[in-house]
Amino acid sequence: MDKAKIIIHNKEYELPLVKGTEGEIAIDISTLRDTTGCITLDVGYQNTGSCLSAITFIDGEKGILRYRGYPIEELAEKTSFTETAYLLIYGNLPTPEEKKAFSQRLTENSMIHEEMVRFFDGFPLTAHPMAILSTMVNALSVYYPQYFPAEFDIETFDLMAARLISKIRTIAAYSYKHSIGEPFIYPRPDLKYCANFLYMMFHSPVKPYEIDPDIEKTMNILLILHADHEQNCSTSTVRLVGSSMVNLYSSICAGICALWGPLHGGANQEVIHMLEEIHNGKLSVRECIERAKNKDNRFRLFGFGHRVYKSYDPRARILKAQCDILSRKLNIKDPLIEIALELEERTLNDEYFIERKLYPNVDFYSGILYRMIGIPTNMYPVMFAIGRLPGWIAQWKEMHDTKPFKIGRPRQIYIGPVERHL
Ligand code: SDX
Repeated sequence: MDKAKIIIHNKEYELPLVKGTEGEIAIDISTLRDTTGCITLDVGYQNTGSCLSAITFIDGEKGILRYRGYPIEELAEKTSFTETAYLLIYGNLPTPEEKKAFSQRLTENSMIHEEMVRFFDGFPLTAHPMAILSTMVNALSVYYPQYFPAEFDIETFDLMAARLISKIRTIAAYSYKHSIGEPFIYPRPDLKYCANFLYMMFHSPVKPYEIDPDIEKTMNILLILHADHEQNCSTSTVRLVGSSMVNLYSSICAGICALWGPLHGGANQEVIHMLEEIHNGKLSVRECIERAKNKDNRFRLFGFGHRVYKSYDPRARILKAQCDILSRKLNIKDPLIEIALELEERTLNDEYFIERKLYPNVDFYSGILYRMIGIPTNMYPVMFAIGRLPGWIAQWKEMHDTKPFKIGRPRQIYIGPVERHL
């Protein structure tokens, strides 16, 4: 394998190159400080790989996204979210027996401890559901303390993974019911993953909820498209926190908090706020675009731009098509769709965005679909978390399966005062 050569203060050093299965090349700098006394500096980790991973592959220039080698277009069309979750975590799509056992584990773990249900009495009705979700997920470590600081055992892992994937729906639905003062609807053992979530969200004793197969299919597509995305901010957070050997629940709690930020998974909520401001006449499409280009404020065109995609986010392409499909099936005429299409059209023809290769990302159309389904705006980041959870779990497991197991601890370059005395 070729090597990289660097010259520091006229001394030449060689560093090994690492090549991935898709031809990506990295300079392995794991011995850099020992051999040269130098470290690298890469604010925001724009050029830094944190691990070798076999889970997800993204080609940002070509707009390719694959989970364990399968294009997401095929997975979104032909699999269920729980099948894709299994694929991400265990490396292959489940056999019929594996699928039955996984589904059984999810069903058995769909309720939360009754003492945890009482936590909701302490949350104000206006509590943001991401604050509730992170609190409740971390509290799972109180009620289910069987985890493993030292030895990794697959049975405990399987149970923790099933508990999280199943209970996150229940916690999310309960946070919604709590916010509208309706009784919690317990999960049903006869419903599939997405149908059960919709049922817990929208069923009520006085107004039965009919599961619409088109909405159920759309929910599966939404969750599949959010299921993993390499080493994004929240996944890197789950790995870093997990590298201290804390339990999986607390690692996932940290990922939920990172995802909440408006630059990350919180963008889907901001996109709808932005489109509503335009719809309410507070802002025109042109003013919105100009504001986003103005460096004097922190406003961004939410749902646009990406650290890796320098072309159209393949997930946004699928979701944009699904907006059209579902709006026709449900006969919904959402004015925000027209505004979003106009915003996209103008932005894609604007020099500022073209020059910076800024395209719609996964968050630009997802909110419109959640809105059609009836999910409240402040729950959009929660929906992102439900989708991303299997990816976080898969990445956490891959880190535990990697030898040697290393705690994450980046270096820095100090620029503060030199030694001084009181
Ligand atoms: C997600 O990483 C992942 O994989 C994330 C994700 C996942 O699945 O986990 O894909 C999910 O988080 C999608 C992104 C959701 N966030 C938003 O939609 C918020 C709006 N987007 C931006 O904040 C931004 O594009 C980021 C945060 C997504 C990416 O930021 P980068 O890679 O640090 O890029 P940058 O801020 O350095 O931008 C480069 C230039 C800058 O201009 P200049 O300084 O070169 O003049 O592009 C500009 C930025 O000002 N820019 C934008 C912009 N995005 C970038 N200008 C206006 N509006 C935007 N949306």
